[in-house]
Amino acid sequence: ARENVRSLAMGGHVGFESLPDQLVNRSIQQGFCFNILCVGETGIGKSTLIDTLFNTNFEDHESSHFYPHVKLKAQTYELQESNVRLKLTIVNTVGFGDQINKEESMNMVIIDAQFEAIALALPTYHDSLCTYHSHFLYSPLPQKDAGPLKMKSVNVIPVIAKADAISKSELHKFKIKLMSELVSNGVQIYQFPTDDETIAKINASMNGHLPFAVVGSMDEVKVGNKMVKARQYPWGVVQVENENHCDFVKLREMLICTNMEDLREQTHTRHYELYRRCKLEEMGLTDVGPENKPLSLQETYEAKRHEFYGELQRKEEEMKQMFVQRVKEKEAILKEAERELQAKFEHLKRVHQEERMKLEEKRRLLEEEIIAFSKKKATSEIYQNQTFMASGSNLRKDKDRKKAPGYRFELLCFDVRACETTGGPKDAEEGREGPSTVGRP
Ligand code: GTP
Ligand code: MG
Repeated sequence: ARENVRSLAMGGHVGFESLPDQLVNRSIQQGFCFNILCVGETGIGKSTLIDTLFNTNFEDHESSHFYPHVKLKAQTYELQESNVRLKLTIVNTVGFGDQINKEESMNMVIIDAQFEAIALALPTYHDSLCTYHSHFLYSPLPQKDAGPLKMKSVNVIPVIAKADAISKSELHKFKIKLMSELVSNGVQIYQFPTDDETIAKINASMNGHLPFAVVGSMDEVKVGNKMVKARQYPWGVVQVENENHCDFVKLREMLICTNMEDLREQTHTRHYELYRRCKLEEMGLTDVGPENKPLSLQETYEAKRHEFYGELQRKEEEMKQMFVQRVKEKEAILKEAERELQAKFEHLKRVHQEERMKLEEKRRLLEEEIIAFSKKKATSEIYQNQTFMASGSNLRKDKDRKKAPGYRFELLCFDVRACETTGGPKDAEEGREGPSTVGRP
């Protein structure tokens, strides 16, 4: 296609030669963002290294070794060098490797979940780079150290911290061992780009130096006649910026001076794109259809929406049916209870009726008894009167007699109030107050 493009010589000044200047101006005005995720055990030297790298004091407090979980802590700083502003965000893994059960530290999923939380909180988070500190004193087990590095959404630069505490020959062996472990665990390490001629050579040679063994220190020590950043020991001075002592300068050169823009671009074009695709795929949105035909996002979205709407309607229908079913069940239960209550009521009514009839019968018997008794009483009264009159004529004859024997008659009245409860006539027992004795001498 290139052959079909015509090359034209221009007759005079047009002005698009200022395009690079426009870019520079805009960048200077907007400033830059850069994020670093520091993964490494507590106290391994992360903060010191970051301070040394940016030649400043970020005042990151030491963290405790007693956190039950690994957390991500992000801090943002505004830096300025000549007229270029840099918004630097440092994310630290707090509590990494401190738990007895190191599984969480190894588990990239957890880191990934928090990474995502931070990604949502910080829109620019995805301009990220992951430096990884592996302390040679803890022989890094493949699973243990490789875990968090499996994060696919960052550029990984492995770093060996506190390199002043290892001998040169040991360091060489350790670098080889660490790299082979990372590779065998499928960790993709960021490669400094070699497509730009001006930096291809240096980048290619630096790729061969990974992982960088670094020393961090903000202390200034006098070496010769100038002050340098170094760590002073009884046997000598380890100079941070001396390439014979450690790889700090290489790291700074590669990270800040030469490849910072490529790291940012890689994050945007590769990692963020991958992350975005994964996220969209998780939501069921894909770029290609079943026969590998490209799909427009609008179509996929519409299809998804349609599907979702259908699902929603199906669920609604299901809910409705379930509701009707529940109502039916409840109704049946209530009907059954009503039937039972009705049966109980009928039974009680019957019992009550029988009881009432029994009492009526009792009352009838009692009334008969009363009548019989009244008759007897009347007879006995007649008889008594006759006897009384007869005895009146004999009274004078028996004057001397001390006392005439009297007739005694007792009338026992029955309490028939019980009949009242069954609804019997009241007048039957009116004026009768329990058993009483009516006597005559
Ligand atoms: P936390 O934030 O608490 O997890 O620790 P960190 O990883 O930020 O470590 P920090 O930079 O606070 O350093 C911890 C200790 O290690 C300090 O006493 C530092 O002086 C020391 N230290 C840092 N870098 C080096 C180094 O390169 N070599 C040696 N020998 N010691 C170092
Ligand atoms: Mg720290």
